[in-house]
Amino acid sequence: MRVKRICCIGAGYVGGPTMAIIAQKNPSIAVTVVDINANRIAAWNDENLDNLPIYEPGLSEVVKEARGKNLFFSTAVDQAIEEADMIFISVNTPTKTYGVGKGMAADLKFIELCARQIARVSKSNKIVVEKSTLPVRTAEALKSILDNTGNGVNFQILSNPEFLAEGTAVNDLLNPDRVLIGGDIDHEKGKEAMQALVDVYASWVPKERILTTNIWSSELSKLTANAFLAQRVSSINALSELCEATGADDNEVAKAIGADSRIGSKFLQASVGFGGSCFQKDILNLVYISRSLGLAEVADYWEQVITMNDHQKDRFAKKMVSTMYNTVSGKQIALLGWAFKKDTNDTRESAAIYVADELLAEQAQLHVFDPKVQKQQILNDLKTLNTRSEEENANLVSIYNDPFKACEDVHAIAVMTEWDEFREYDWQKIYDQMMKPAFVFDGRNILDAKKLEAIGFSVFQIGKAN
Ligand code: NAD
Ligand code: UGA
Repeated sequence: MRVKRICCIGAGYVGGPTMAIIAQKNPSIAVTVVDINANRIAAWNDENLDNLPIYEPGLSEVVKEARGKNLFFSTAVDQAIEEADMIFISVNTPTKTYGVGKGMAADLKFIELCARQIARVSKSNKIVVEKSTLPVRTAEALKSILDNTGNGVNFQILSNPEFLAEGTAVNDLLNPDRVLIGGDIDHEKGKEAMQALVDVYASWVPKERILTTNIWSSELSKLTANAFLAQRVSSINALSELCEATGADDNEVAKAIGADSRIGSKFLQASVGFGGSCFQKDILNLVYISRSLGLAEVADYWEQVITMNDHQKDRFAKKMVSTMYNTVSGKQIALLGWAFKKDTNDTRESAAIYVADELLAEQAQLHVFDPKVQKQQILNDLKTLNTRSEEENANLVSIYNDPFKACEDVHAIAVMTEWDEFREYDWQKIYDQMMKPAFVFDGRNILDAKKLEAIGFSVFQIGKAN
């Protein structure tokens, strides 16, 4: 069968960009992205493309090309489900904050609500695609809900996890290393459904990069791909501490080990700690699943990736305090960057949030600048931690639109996100207007330490003996 109408439930960081590319590359398919968040949908429909709800390089051009032709954003969820022959579920699957598995397991309530809604509304056969990252064997639960609460129509369930990274979403979608499709490979209807989805991607992805497999392997591959990636960051971050203690240089070590083609050079950049909405949540989920299956050693092994990441954030904040004569109370500190990585306005689980929290606990006064993150988002992130009142946060944290203003009269600057523009600043000008001694803590190793030291800064970089 050829798909004519697609509905995607969830207009977030995955649903929005993924559907925009699918629509752009398949002009004959009508793609409707729906969400219960009316503000988000309004932003996707905004005439001014600068107001799209998420920032991704190249995304506004794709939306401009397809929106209103075969790409639609709507809050009419029932209608879009009913009209579609293929439905992607791309809703959030955060870590549970209550009950059994609190703090570890994935919260599947949004997924279940979608399944019940699809079952209730559907009057014709549908292919339901898991786009969200889900615990292995979720498809079983989905099938049970769909078949037991539906109107007797046939549902085929596929797993099609998304591997895009934020900041490079458009390029990752246009040139994926692979597209993974899991389905019921033992039955004709399952194979037909898989082929229908293969055809959607084959409009622009070379066939050899479209992998098909059974549904459990597909679900598990997504969780473990993220776990492997995060593990590399924790590995290089563990090495960075060793480098600081021994005089080795983490960039040099990364270069040397990454030159081994079996290891590879990517994802070996030491940092103040990985963030983002998924690495931590997916590993916690993997740990939870392993523990539920009685696989204690497997669970402990993966949990260590998170332990190391927490340590990296914590030791960065502690290093700042100890370097500044063991007190930052009343001191002004500028944080450059709040997003969890460059080229995104996403701040979920950003290391900056946790470092800021530790510095605030030491009674520092923070000046925050990020080129893409809005003031309210920064205050919300701190509020969510629940460490102190909103009023206290607002009194202790000032948010700036101008990096030079943020750095005026501060005792120290900490680079939290690797935004390219930070490298290009007039650091002499920044130095001239700072308190002395002027400290820079480069949590991303993006600044030229020699140049800064020549100006007069005291510089700390991750993974370098200082
Ligand atoms: P998100 O929070 O940005 O977007 C999810 C959207 O779903 C929200 O706008 C929410 O309002 C909407 N939603 C929730 N329940 C709904 C319902 N019942 N009906 C309609 N809309 C509903 O999340 P995201 O970052 O796009 O992530 C979605 C999934 O994709 C997660 O499982 C995540 O793990 C996975 N993933 C994310 C990324 C990433 O880079 N962010 C990459 C790969 C995979
Ligand atoms: C990650 C994966 O890369 C995607 O394949 C996956 O689809 C996605 O998670 C997901 O499931 O959500 P993302 O979190 O958007 O993508 O961004 P990454 O580039 O992976 O960076 C994650 C974090 O690790 C960032 O904080 C980044 O700064 C940090 N990082 C990354 C390092 O500290 N060092 C590195 O070498 C690489």
